[in-house]
Amino acid sequence: MTHAHIVLAGATGDLGGRISRALVDRGARVTALVRGRDDRTRGLEARGAKVIEVDFARRAGLVAACEGASCVVSALSGLREVVVEAQTALVDAAVEAGCPRFIPSDFSLDYFKQPPGINRNLDLRREFNERLADRAIAATSILNGAFAEMLTGQAPFLLFPIRRALVWENPDQKMDFTAMDDVAAFTAAAALDDRAPRYLRIAGNEASARDLAALATEVTGKPFHLLRAGGLRRLERLILLLRAVGGEDTLYPPWQGMQYMHNMFSGLPKLAPLDNDRYPGLRWTPLRQLLEAHEAREGR
Ligand SMILES: NC(=O)c1ccc[n+]([C@@H]2O[C@H](COP(=O)([O-])OP(=O)(O)OC[C@H]3O[C@@H](n4cnc5c(N)ncnc54)[C@H](OP(=O)(O)O)[C@@H]3O)[C@@H](O)[C@H]2O)c1
Repeated sequence: MTHAHIVLAGATGDLGGRISRALVDRGARVTALVRGRDDRTRGLEARGAKVIEVDFARRAGLVAACEGASCVVSALSGLREVVVEAQTALVDAAVEAGCPRFIPSDFSLDYFKQPPGINRNLDLRREFNERLADRAIAATSILNGAFAEMLTGQAPFLLFPIRRALVWENPDQKMDFTAMDDVAAFTAAAALDDRAPRYLRIAGNEASARDLAALATEVTGKPFHLLRAGGLRRLERLILLLRAVGGEDTLYPPWQGMQYMHNMFSGLPKLAPLDNDRYPGLRWTPLRQLLEAHEAREGR
C-alpha cells in the first residue's frame, strides 16, 4: 500500500474512472481534476477520490491542483484542443508545481513504430509527446493495443449478426487487445512506480482474425467464418474516400476506426517486448470472458 498523491485528469471518463478506482484500491490519495460537478464526480468522491474543479485554460488553478503530486496522470480524450492543448496546459502546470512524473493519455497501439500520416488521432498523440519531450518531467506512456471491449462494441472485428470475423489482408496477423480494467490497474501501478520507464507495453491478449472467428464459434456455439474484405491498399482507398466526405471535427468518424483497423492489420504497431509481468498480482482478462459476458448480456 502507498500514500502517494496522484492527480488524475479525465477521471469522469470511462478509462479515467477505472484508473481512479485502481489507484484508490492501491492506497493512493487521488485528486481528480474535473470540469464541473455531476453524478460522475459524486461517484468518484464516493469511491475515495478528492474532486477539484479546474479550468484547463487557467494556469494558476491547474498549478495549485497539481501541488504535492508524485505523478499527474491524464486520461483525457478528444481532438487537438484536448490531446495537444489541454494536455500541454496540464503538463506545464505539473512542471510548475514541481511534480516529477507525468503519464499522458496514450493508451493505444505502439504508434511510435509506424510512420505519421496514417492515423489522425495517433498523430495528435505524437504531436503532444514531442512537446512532452521538451518538458522537465519524466514521462511514461502506456501502450495497450485496442481495448478488448471494442470487440463487442464499436469496432467491427467480429460481426455478430452475420457471424463473420472481418479480415483486411492477412487473417493470421496477430493483434493486441487489453481489457480496460486491466489497463487501469496497470496504469495505477505505473503511476506509483517512480522507476517506470518512458514506455510500457502491455497486451492482455493477442489474437488474429482467424483466432477471433474460432473463439466466437466456441463461445456462441455457432460457426463464425472469415470475411475477407480485401487488402490494405483497398482499405487505404476507402479511408481516403470517406475522409473526403467529412468527419475531421469528430473524434471517431468511421474512417478513424478504419485507420485503427488498418494499423492493426498491418502489424506495424504490434506491441513487443511486453511489460505484462512488471507488476505482481495483475491479471489479464481473457477475450473468452469478455465474449461470454457479451453473450449473457445479449440473452443468448
Ligand atoms: N486503445 C483503445 O482501443 C482505446 C479506445 C478508447 C479510448 N482510448 C483512449 O483512452 C483514453 C481515455 O478515453 P475514454 O474513452 O476513457 O474517454 P472518455 O470516456 O470520452 O472521457 C474523456 C475524458 O476527457 C475529458 N475531457 C474531454 N474534453 C475535455 C476538455 N476540453 N477539457 C478537459 N477535459 C476534457 C472528459 O471530461 P468531461 O466528462 O468533463 O467531458 C472525460 O473526463 C484516451 O486516450 C483514448 O484515446 C483507447
